[in-house]
Amino acid sequence: MTRNDILREMGLGPVWRLRTATPATPVAEVAAASTAAAEHLPQNVPAGEPVAPAIAPAAMDWDELAAAVAACRQCRLGETRKQAVLGVGDRHADWLFVGEGPGAEEDERGEPFVGQAGKLLDSMLAAIGLKRGNDVYIANAVKCRPPGNRTPEPEEAAACWPYLERQIELIRPKLIVALGRPAAQTLLQTEVKIAAARGRLHDYRGIPLIVTYHPAYLLRTLPDKALAWEDLCFMKRTMQASRAG
Ligand code: URA
Repeated sequence: MTRNDILREMGLGPVWRLRTATPATPVAEVAAASTAAAEHLPQNVPAGEPVAPAIAPAAMDWDELAAAVAACRQCRLGETRKQAVLGVGDRHADWLFVGEGPGAEEDERGEPFVGQAGKLLDSMLAAIGLKRGNDVYIANAVKCRPPGNRTPEPEEAAACWPYLERQIELIRPKLIVALGRPAAQTLLQTEVKIAAARGRLHDYRGIPLIVTYHPAYLLRTLPDKALAWEDLCFMKRTMQASRAG
């Protein structure tokens, strides 16, 4: 199989393109926080001042979590974001994809992976028969945009971790896919090099976890798209085994 064959399999030409123009399902979850959930949150908090939510993320339901994330000032990213981006998709999904953090378009729209990298992620999902929102949940390691799209600082990822941790508890996915190094390091709580970590099955509290390249990296690095295709096939096999077992 040539590289072009592989790229065609993924629905992509030499430049990655969507096979079909499938619009993203608009399921952004941040906006509508319930009044009840909002009551748990500190009110009138000056921007930038760290505060703890009145209840711990570990005990929150989805509405409470959405409200807490929307109001979060646990790190300085809360000072510069337009809006926090909780995640999108099926809250009972078998597949959970975790990226790094919102970029400019995500910050604007309140939904993860809606820019160029998101289009590629949608193509990657389509290549293995998946669709955003359909048995798939997409989240990020940090919920607020790092200014200038820089990599989140470890303390920012640490401050945001209880939210992702709770999302995983609520979703109970059968497979977690870490997209890129910051997501992998956040989930595995260790230094990760993607080249070494990909192609192996990791474990997150009993849930299989696979590490692959971040779509934004793949947009810049054509040769590694073939490796990403291998990772997608590995994910699919792992999910089949997990469902069978
Ligand atoms: N990159 C990410 O890691 N997450 C997004 O939501 C968008 C781009």
